[in-house]
Parts: sequence; C-alpha cells; structure tokens
Amino acid sequence: VSETGSLAIIVLGASGDLAKKKTFPALFNLYHQGFLNPDEVHIFGYARTKISDEDLRDRIRGYLVDEKNASEKAEALSKFLQLIKYVSGPYDSEEGFKRLDKAISEHEISKKVSEGSSRRLFYLALPPSVYPPVCKMIKEWCTNKSDLGGWTRIVVEKPFGKDLESAEQLSSQIGKLFDEQQIYRIDHYLGKELVQNMLVLRFANRFFLPLWNRDNIDNVQIVFREDFGTEGRGGYFDEYGIIRDIIQNHLLQASVLCLVAMEKPISLKPEHIRDEKVKVLQSVIPIKDEEVVLGQYEGYKDDPTVPNDSNTPTFATTILRIDNERWEGVPFILKAGKAMSSKKADIRIQFKDVPGDIFKCMYLEQIEPFSHTKYMYRYQKNCWSKLSCNATGQKQGRNEFVIRLQPSEAMYMKLTVKQPGLEMQTVQSELDLSYKQRYQGVSIPEAYERLILDTIKGDQQHFVRRDELKAAWEIFTPLLHRIEKGEVKSIPYKAGSRGPAEADQLLKKAGYLQTHGY
Ligand code: BG6
Repeated sequence: VSETGSLAIIVLGASGDLAKKKTFPALFNLYHQGFLNPDEVHIFGYARTKISDEDLRDRIRGYLVDEKNASEKAEALSKFLQLIKYVSGPYDSEEGFKRLDKAISEHEISKKVSEGSSRRLFYLALPPSVYPPVCKMIKEWCTNKSDLGGWTRIVVEKPFGKDLESAEQLSSQIGKLFDEQQIYRIDHYLGKELVQNMLVLRFANRFFLPLWNRDNIDNVQIVFREDFGTEGRGGYFDEYGIIRDIIQNHLLQASVLCLVAMEKPISLKPEHIRDEKVKVLQSVIPIKDEEVVLGQYEGYKDDPTVPNDSNTPTFATTILRIDNERWEGVPFILKAGKAMSSKKADIRIQFKDVPGDIFKCMYLEQIEPFSHTKYMYRYQKNCWSKLSCNATGQKQGRNEFVIRLQPSEAMYMKLTVKQPGLEMQTVQSELDLSYKQRYQGVSIPEAYERLILDTIKGDQQHFVRRDELKAAWEIFTPLLHRIEKGEVKSIPYKAGSRGPAEADQLLKKAGYLQTHGY
C-alpha cells in the first residue's frame, strides 16, 4: 500500500459476528503479512455494547489464530491487538461519533499525520437498516478533515436492500452523503481466488475464445450448496431467504454469472470491467415461474425465530436467460441450497454434443452383446461414465468445463479419450488443474483479506457498483414479490439431500446432462 500518512480502520458493529469471524481475522492476516504498517495504522472498534479495549481484544483473540499456528503467530498477535481501540456508542448519536472522531484524531496526531495524508476507512459490519444513520453520523462528524489529502471510504456489506425499491432508496440515501468512488459494496465472492481468475481464464486463453458462445455451449450451471442449515440465523434468514442471501449477490451480481457471460472489456480498468457486467445483467429477461423450483428443508421451522407458516426458500433453482447475440437460447441455471448433501460452489459449463458422432455406432456394436447386468459390471470396472456407455449406447459423455470455487479450488475439463488397452473403447476422463497439487505451499488468501486490501488501495474493480446492484435487483424483485405473496411455493426437502427432485427435473428440461460422479 503505497500512500503514506495515518490509516484508521474503523469497524462499526465491532462486537458482532461478522466482525469477529471475518473482518478482524482478515485485518490480522494483512498485518501479519506486512500489508498494514504499524507506524501508520490504528484500528477502532465501535458498537453499542459498553466494553473496554481489553474486552474487545479478548472477544476477538480466539478468532485470529488457530491451534496450529498460535505459537508461531503469538508475537504478531499481541502487537496487532495493541493497535485496536474501542469506542462505544449508539449508531445515531452525535455524541458517540464525536468521541470516535476524537479517538481517530488523537491517533492521527500520534502518527504524525502532518507528514502525510489522513486515510479513514469505515467498515460497516452492521445490518443495512442502520446504514443511513451511521453514514450520516460519519459524514457529519468523522470524515477526514486533513488539508494534506487522504480520503474517507465506506465499506458496506450485503444484503444491500431487500428488493429494487429498498435498495434504490438505500443507494440514494447514502449517495447523498458520499460519492460512488467512496462507497465499497462488498460481496466476498468477488474476492475468491477462482472468481478473480475468471477474467484471465476467459480472455488470456485462445482455447476458450472461439468456443465461448451459444454455438458451442449447451448450458451453464452455477451451483452453491452448504451441508448445514441456518444454524441460529433463522430470524435473519427468514426475512431474506436463499435468493437474497446467495443467488442475487454471490451467484449473480457478484459476478460469477457476469464474469462467465460478459464481453471482453476494453481494458482492465475497474469501470470498463463493471460496464460490461452491467450490460449482462441488463440483458437478462424476466424469470418465468415454470423455470423456478423453491425448496425448504425439513426442520427449518424448528428454529423458534422462524414463523410456523414460513414459505421462505432455503433452496432455489432458477434459470436465467440472457437475450444477446452470444447467449440467446443458453440456459444459465443458478442453484443454491442450505442443508444439502455436501458443501460446494461450482461453475459448470456444458458443451454441446459432437455433431456426426462416429463413435456412436461403435458403442452399439460393443454393447449389444452384453446383458444389462454385464454392462453395469463393465461400467464399474472400467469406470466408464454412464453417458459414454449407457444401456442403449447412444450418447458420448459431454465435454464439461468445471471451475470449483470451493472447497479445494480446481478447474477441470471432462473429455472423452480412448480407454488405454488393446480394445477400442472410449472413456470419460479429465484434464485436471487442482490448485493444492499444482500450487503446493502457496496459500490462497481469504476473500475478505483481498477485498479489504483493495479498499485501502482504492481499487473498486471487485466491488458492486450502484447500477450493477440495481440491475441485479431488477431481475429478482418480481419473483421475490411473488414468493412473498405465496404465489410460488417452497417444496419440502430432506436435510442432507440434493434438494427437491423437481429441481433435477428442471435441470434436465433445461438440457443439463448429469455426468458421472456428480
Ligand atoms: C454469506 C451468507 O454471505 O455467505 C451465508 O449470508 C453463507 O448464508 C456464506 O453461509 C457462504 O460464504 P462462503 O464463503 O463460506 O461460501
């Protein structure tokens, strides 16, 4: 981070879950890796709870290191904790924010701000309902007043609004106080390694350029699953549901879909990239109810904070269609669920079948002599995929390119090859780039670390712009309103399952061919 002068990082909502689990650990890791200069940085926690500096340090200490690295990081940890001060006060009180400003100013004087600029980064680890009063207080009492330059920046978390209207209202309230260049709307999926890799993958590889379109791609599936339920967050979750919690932001606007579908930006400048993302969102046509399956896992309503008649989806599969030259007719299947059989986030790009498939006859010749049982045996022994050798022998496995965002980051391409041996048999195999094997010893940064560092550098590329947010809400708001009116119902599904069977039927209808092992 090249600018000099004091840097105050103020975490509002410092005693909350997000701050403890994500914000402070990310700050500690940045500090530990030398990205936060202790001669310049001070960290302030602000929240309503009346506790001391030491109490806050004790509350967060256990989240910053784990057993494995505690002794190695002990010294850095105690130095880092000494950089943290705590100020308590309500979120709409002049008096509280004046005290916060005083604490920041004292730090700036102690860090000889007169020799450099004053940088103030406000991280709102708070519910969106308090964004407007907090931003007003920051604007009135706590912005950088140094004549020597510097900045004031605001980081806000999702969910940014509940629908188009509330999001726009929130944007204009905050927009009256701060310029768009000062507002960083964080969506931590944008900080994930393989999401950040998407631009490079798509635009630095000749392989993909000619294939990335409706002529070659049959369907795109973006999947998020968690193997646990709402776990104590039922009250929050019931108000939002899986579409607002995951799909509208992490899978769509946070760019997973935008990055897959966008055109090449004219440069790597954040504005050029974000311009292209907005165009994708604006080309999505309204979602049809018959292309949506909602689910709610059994046991969700056992949470006492969830109403007994809740229709809130904890699972959703929905098909988006992009009405432009590149993608017309290609379904983009977005699927997310809590309490599923596994934890995983994948992008799966399935290519069309090979036209004029000369291997088709070969399958028929080879398979016909075998009984169904024998065929199954061969399939298991030789690991043939179901598709490359099914009972009628009519289909080859499809090429599928998979980008696994988590866990175990990887990219792999499923392709058909000759089964090694004397016989001419085909088998589906993979070209596999697993990050753990390929980049041994390289640690992949946490999304929050990368994004906080970007806010300090002033790089807005991986943050959501106001028009992006608006376009994303435009896509989902009509459906969300229909769900709220009970016009689209959530189907019960068993916790620990694949979700409602209706979702698999929808996928099949959209053309997705389930491949071996998935
Ligand atoms: C959050 C959602 O934004 O993302 C949570 O509110 C979800 O419900 C979490 O569990 C998932 O993030 P990650 O990085 O663990 O996939």
